[in-house]
Amino acid sequence: MRFVSTAKLLHHAQANGYAVGAFNVFNMESLQAVAQVAEEEKAPVIIMCEQRDIGFAGINYLYHLALAALADATVPIALHLDHGKDPDVVKQGIYTGFSSVMIDGSSMPFEDNIRLTREIVKVAHAQGVTVEAELGHVGGAGAEGINDDSVYTNPLLAAEFVQRTAVDSLAVAIGTAHGVYVEVPKLDFERLEEISQGVAIPLVLHGGSGTPDDDLQRAISLGICKINVGTDIRMQFMAAFVESKAAGAKDVRDALSPARAVMKEVIRDRIRVFGAAGRANGF
Ligand code: 13P
Repeated sequence: MRFVSTAKLLHHAQANGYAVGAFNVFNMESLQAVAQVAEEEKAPVIIMCEQRDIGFAGINYLYHLALAALADATVPIALHLDHGKDPDVVKQGIYTGFSSVMIDGSSMPFEDNIRLTREIVKVAHAQGVTVEAELGHVGGAGAEGINDDSVYTNPLLAAEFVQRTAVDSLAVAIGTAHGVYVEVPKLDFERLEEISQGVAIPLVLHGGSGTPDDDLQRAISLGICKINVGTDIRMQFMAAFVESKAAGAKDVRDALSPARAVMKEVIRDRIRVFGAAGRANGF
């Protein structure tokens, strides 16, 4: 079995009104948690590594751990390089065997973002790899800026960006943010609707942790086909590990097992909220 094309996953989600869960992994246990839950829930899934995960674990380790997950899987699994800011790292992902990459030029001026995205699209498409880009900027969920709409995606520019870059999917900034929210995010659904009307490719929502479930489901109904989740997984892992130790676990494996189990429940819950459970049967 091979990693499935991320474009294929996203088009299935788009045609059937759900979102594929894309989960950031950083070690063997988090990767196992994603793959095992996908199997149990019969859900297509995206294993996702961001540059920091790659910096921590190493691209070859994460790639080969994902291959091990694939060997045990019957559900479609894609492997995605998330938030690639450095084109060399993104190209490394393409040539290593990731089925998709994100090129993140969202902090750049419009024309520079287009230029960088086009460069990566050319390299990736020659290898059959799907590309995600971001227009507007999804920032951090700190005190500043989560409801600052000056960085939100402009619907008119989104249509132009997609047309000029030939990118496969687009991450949009509509009010979510990465990390732990200090206040409940307020999503701009009108803007999302406008973007959806002008752009035919699947749309992606970043900052899935802590965003209310009904907001996520409304966003899916307006064209979001992939939702990224990272923070909740890492925080629950750490909390469960520390708790096990405090409760008397003497062996590291006795603390890692409940930490992996807790991550599985976070992932399972998200897959169900996204409407992705049972969808692997459609492939
Ligand atoms: P969270 O860490 O807020 O879930 O966001 C994840 C993400 O968007 C990764 O690209």
